[in-house]
Amino acid sequence: MKETPIHQQWSSRLAFIFAAVGSAIGLGNIWKFPYIAGENGGGAFILVYLVCVFLISFPVMIAEVLIGRRTHKSPVNAMEKMALEAKQSPHWSLLGWMGVIAGFLILSYYSVIAGWTLSYVLKSLTNTFGELFATTATQDYAAAIETVFSNTIANPWMLLLFHSIFMFMTMLVIAQGVRSGLEKAVSSLVPLLFVLLIILIFYAFSMPGWNQAIDFMFNFRFEDLNAASVLEAMGHAFFTLSLGMGAIMVYGSYLPNKVSITHASFIVVSMDTIVSIAASLIIFPLVFSYGLEPGAGPGLVFVTLPIAFGQMSFGIIIGSIFFILLLFAAWTSAISLLEPAIAWLIENKNLKRYQASIFMGLLTWLTGLLTIFSFNIWSGFTPGDKTIFDWIDFLTSNIMLPIGGLFIAIFVGWLVSNKVTSEELNTSPNNIFYLLWKFLIRFLAPITIIIIFIYKLLDTLGLLKGAA
Ligand code: PHE
Repeated sequence: MKETPIHQQWSSRLAFIFAAVGSAIGLGNIWKFPYIAGENGGGAFILVYLVCVFLISFPVMIAEVLIGRRTHKSPVNAMEKMALEAKQSPHWSLLGWMGVIAGFLILSYYSVIAGWTLSYVLKSLTNTFGELFATTATQDYAAAIETVFSNTIANPWMLLLFHSIFMFMTMLVIAQGVRSGLEKAVSSLVPLLFVLLIILIFYAFSMPGWNQAIDFMFNFRFEDLNAASVLEAMGHAFFTLSLGMGAIMVYGSYLPNKVSITHASFIVVSMDTIVSIAASLIIFPLVFSYGLEPGAGPGLVFVTLPIAFGQMSFGIIIGSIFFILLLFAAWTSAISLLEPAIAWLIENKNLKRYQASIFMGLLTWLTGLLTIFSFNIWSGFTPGDKTIFDWIDFLTSNIMLPIGGLFIAIFVGWLVSNKVTSEELNTSPNNIFYLLWKFLIRFLAPITIIIIFIYKLLDTLGLLKGAA
């Protein structure tokens, strides 16, 4: 039951891979992964994370691409069509809707953090950190860098400016279309991202802290692992691969019929993992070379690293390259967060792509104000001990994405027939890899997602006192 797609399709398998890799690699890999690995003691956490990525996320990614490619429609319509084909309720489209809403909500704060990154690109290029190092007494230097960060987020106008620029960059790419917008942007940005990463790794390799970093990352000290860190690893394995909200599904819907879904997904998962490890191999050697703390949390990239950049040789260049890398990574993720909504508006509301981009762009921009104000004028407004930004992050990453992933796994694992899935994966239903995938998507993925979900929920609601 294949139809001619209404949207443009990627021109090649490589274009899909660049787009999906671009979506997957983002703030999650370069900002978040190293700091959660740092907070959870390194080695053992990384091992658990790798197991989660390949046993849980990879099968779910195949399922998402499969639904997209089978229907060639936006997630909302894809779910409906696929459900009807499987003789199920058309209300499965609600899953698509949840994804659309999650994507737009995630982008509303993602863009603000990408905005910090943009401002740090400028700070690095103008040698803000180096100057502070030269002009501040040694014992006050770290605090001075910290003040740069707290001043950045305390100023709503500055945040607004950078958030606006980043949203504009995102809309600009989306408005040009699948081939001349998305594909063109990712085909240059993703390879460039890898070049920047390689330059930084070489630099990190030359630092005295390299060996300590390797030891920190690859020495499995199991005593560092606890239930909370295992669950953190599982949760992150989802977010980092852009799963559970339709971004990968919509990219799958632009995938030409002849491309192998399993191979392409395997490449995407591997690339994303390599980049997370590489980002840590860049950050930790710098951290250890200057005697800094690997467990600094969210401030690792915006405070700890600038402390190193300010005092090292070539700090201006290395710092600038690092933040440009982070910015580009965020940019190629941002376009995928809005694409499910854009595709739906084009399919159902007959909007032109540029109209849909302006509409969604403005809506996201406006919603981003909630995040901006959470860091300054509304920072005291914390119902349930969370700022509005914390709530949006919690609602999306801890609730909507896991539920999305869970239902995708249940839908594809239990409701879609073997005939359809094996046909789309271009294999026989008795193939050993097919059977393995089917087992993972039917049992392992849903069960583990349910466990993470319940645990995180209880944890956040404060019902697990002392368990972590
Ligand atoms: N995968 C992206 C990252 O690691 C974030 C993202 C989540 C992008 C969901 C799209 C969809 O930063």
